[in-house]
Amino acid sequence: MAGIYIHIPFCKKLCFYCDFYHVISANDNSAFIGALLKEASLRKEYLENETISTIYIGGGTPSVVSITDLGTILNHINKLFRVAEDCEITIEINPDDIQAEFLEGLKNLNINRISIGIQSWEDSDLKMLNRRHNSEQAAIALKETLNAGFENVTIDLIYGIPGMSLKEWESNLDFSFSFDIKHLSAYHLTFEPGTVFGKMLKKGTISEIDENDSAAQFNILIEKAESAGFIQYEISNFGKPGYFSIHNSNYWKQVNYLGLGPSAHSFNGYSRQWNIRDLKGYIKSVNAGKSFFEREELNEKTLFNEYIMTSLRTMWGIDLEYVERIFEKEGYDYVVNLAGKFKKYGLMKPEKNSLVLTNQGKLISDNIISEFMMTGD
Ligand SMILES: C[S@@+](CC[C@H](N)C(=O)[O-])C[C@H]1O[C@@H](n2cnc3c(N)ncnc32)[C@H](O)[C@@H]1O
Ligand code: SF4
Repeated sequence: MAGIYIHIPFCKKLCFYCDFYHVISANDNSAFIGALLKEASLRKEYLENETISTIYIGGGTPSVVSITDLGTILNHINKLFRVAEDCEITIEINPDDIQAEFLEGLKNLNINRISIGIQSWEDSDLKMLNRRHNSEQAAIALKETLNAGFENVTIDLIYGIPGMSLKEWESNLDFSFSFDIKHLSAYHLTFEPGTVFGKMLKKGTISEIDENDSAAQFNILIEKAESAGFIQYEISNFGKPGYFSIHNSNYWKQVNYLGLGPSAHSFNGYSRQWNIRDLKGYIKSVNAGKSFFEREELNEKTLFNEYIMTSLRTMWGIDLEYVERIFEKEGYDYVVNLAGKFKKYGLMKPEKNSLVLTNQGKLISDNIISEFMMTGD
């Protein structure tokens, strides 16, 4: 089983926190769509003989692309690859792009999972983040999506926004869970260099929220999601049973995937590739048959680091049997010894033949993961 990720690099407005590759929407997407189709044809061998269990159309803002163009992309993928009948097909949509006709079009294309970028139900947050929508629009959009018969709907929320109180975050969660969503991705705001927020942080005109407030918001997220019937299968991802995202899970379980479009990443077990973050350059190079990606061959150390980085964030944790099989006794001993320290402080715990983070550990997951990273040649 393998996955395909399609990156649509257009946004109508730039959100102040976002570092995903995007440019302001063009009126004419045809050059991009043409290059994307060509890239898919050029790279079909990447997933040769594999069955595609998930297609994820992300961005940027996929909902700025017309149903006709989305149909052309999906038809092309279906012709080139062996797509499973029950393939999870997700599209990210922004609340202010949701209209009955668009939803109907998505259904006709067999898109069966909708991811809506709500971010916050508080208008003051949405303004601060420079989102296009307000909370009323978001509620209408979510209702319309559910009423249109999409049963696998996920939303994105951001917490740790400057000025966000615990009470506000709680009510954001309560309001979210009042809808029949099956999945939630909740991310702590990060200040990425180069974004508006990143620059403001550097200048000192904005500041990160207090660590204790961050921890309180994270803890309430876990508590409320659990009471609402969601399982935290990854630090930022919560799904009702049977609704964990195949796309996300594949990524954390080292399943092969092909990324199409500027900035998209691909992985085939031995190497990682990432397409250039430059729309014009991407179109030009694809059309001229020139290279449009960089590639890193993974050695044992980088494979080990990748495995720890992805697995430790999930509820399945580090599989010790896998570590021993792939990284032999040396890798196994390294993991078990290091984990001993974290277990002592209640940050990690054993589970069957795995090692997982405790809730306390999840709070400082980045620090724990970085201690596991193997460095040097
Ligand atoms: C590719 S983006 C969004 C897709 C869609 N264009 C939208 O805006 O809803 C995926 C998600 O990443 C999250 N995200 C992006 N940058 C972030 C940041 N700096 N901090 C926290 N969450 C972030 C947001 O929740 C966003 O919905
Ligand atoms: S959050 Fe979404 S809409 Fe906003 S800039 Fe990023 S990709 Fe575009």
